[in-house]
Amino acid sequence: MKLTNETHEQKVQQATLGVEARKKQIEAARYRLNYHFMAPSGWINDPNGLIQHKGIYHLFYQHNPYGADWGPMHWGHAVSKDLIHWEHQPVALAPSEEYDFDEGNQEIGCFSGSAVSKGEELYLIYTGHVEGKSPKEVQAAAYSLDGVHFNKHSQNPFIEKPPEHLSQDFRDPKVWRHNEDWYMVVGSSINGKGAIPLYTSKDLIDWTYEGEALTAEENQGDMWECPDLFPIEDKHALIVSPMNMSNGKNIIMVGEMNYEEGKFTPESVKEIDNGNDFYAAQTFEDEQGRRILIAWMDTWQTDFPTKSEGWAGAMTIPRQVVLDDNRQVKLLPVPELQGLRENYQCSEKVHLNSNEVVDITRDDVDHSFEMLIDFDLKDTESYGKIGMELRASNDGTEKLIVYYDLKTKELVVDTTVAGGDTHPGINKTKLDVQDNLTLRLFMDRCSLEVLTADGEGWITNRIYSDLNNKGTRLFTEGTRVAVDKVETWFLKKVIE
Ligand code: FRU
Repeated sequence: MKLTNETHEQKVQQATLGVEARKKQIEAARYRLNYHFMAPSGWINDPNGLIQHKGIYHLFYQHNPYGADWGPMHWGHAVSKDLIHWEHQPVALAPSEEYDFDEGNQEIGCFSGSAVSKGEELYLIYTGHVEGKSPKEVQAAAYSLDGVHFNKHSQNPFIEKPPEHLSQDFRDPKVWRHNEDWYMVVGSSINGKGAIPLYTSKDLIDWTYEGEALTAEENQGDMWECPDLFPIEDKHALIVSPMNMSNGKNIIMVGEMNYEEGKFTPESVKEIDNGNDFYAAQTFEDEQGRRILIAWMDTWQTDFPTKSEGWAGAMTIPRQVVLDDNRQVKLLPVPELQGLRENYQCSEKVHLNSNEVVDITRDDVDHSFEMLIDFDLKDTESYGKIGMELRASNDGTEKLIVYYDLKTKELVVDTTVAGGDTHPGINKTKLDVQDNLTLRLFMDRCSLEVLTADGEGWITNRIYSDLNNKGTRLFTEGTRVAVDKVETWFLKKVIE
């Protein structure tokens, strides 16, 4: 039964026109990013339905096309041939049916989910959400032959309610294929602890509940959003976005999946990224067999200064998930990003004494660069700090500080004096280094992603400091250090 006379197709058209109309208002926006994915206008949160289907990468996302605040959830859509250059598509899903729409109610919509290829068809599996209804969350599907226009399935919702002992929070289905069957995990909770119910199906519509693949330990959050369970090399990994976890926001567990019993047994757990702005990570396997991860480069517990510019929210750079020799997760920026490099600059053999600051001249085009900083630690002390000040004001009062603390063995991103509307905080991660440390930085107009050259220690933050702050300075505190090289490439603007 439809609740208004408008069909899904009409609502999709209306939403797509809305995005286009609003886009004009934000053309002059200060903080629009150069190479991180954003919607043309309006609000975005979680990446959804990541997939490479018939050779083309698809990125769907939680989207309010009607404004820069969270609101009725649509699925925005973009496609790419290389994960870097994205082409915006019409809105893919709009709230339109009784299980995802309710006239006048703003807390509704097509919530997060995933995509699979079923033969020639592209299937989207998502949560229909209507706040105030019981049950408020159900699972639904939509399909498309051309990869642009989606029809909601006539048998929706294919799961009408959560199993009895689970809470009413029951969302974000992630579907994958194992042997002859489809498997699906859903985010939920049992008695105030995160839980991941598992389902199986032969046809994507008729699903059997198999029990919980995993439930949370104490202190791992009271609800698990956006689960993602996937094979990686000889292991499986489970990503969840826990709500109200005191010491974590988005965790990854590596372990064993027993498909006969439907149970996942974690052997290790860690935070995927220790920055302030990282949530709802989702992965997919591409046609080269790479496991690629993209996350929402924001968080619910923060302000969105770009709302006044008519947009809010962006995605991280795509990162390849790999396991090291100890079966620990590492994330590598996809090599396609190197195609954006131009205007190479290099400072070599810079020696800093203790408590020294050295300017690195950078022909800064647009706060849009990749930087590799190669520290030689053989003659440093076993205490003190070595690092880089970025986006520093001329008088030095405002700066973004990235450093390695030799005593505590922590990589730190300090945004407390970054200035502007930057969320102030100290973000850190343990990092054991020996004779050298190479830091890799991806800076864009309002974001910074920091990692080591071999894919550890990720810290992602949104930076809303004054765009006139252009100082870049190496510094030491309490120790000397030799810097072999500071290499910088300007990264081209590829996203409107
Ligand atoms: C995670 C989340 C999901 C939900 C979506 C709604 O950020 O809360 O659980 O499906 O956002 O937009």
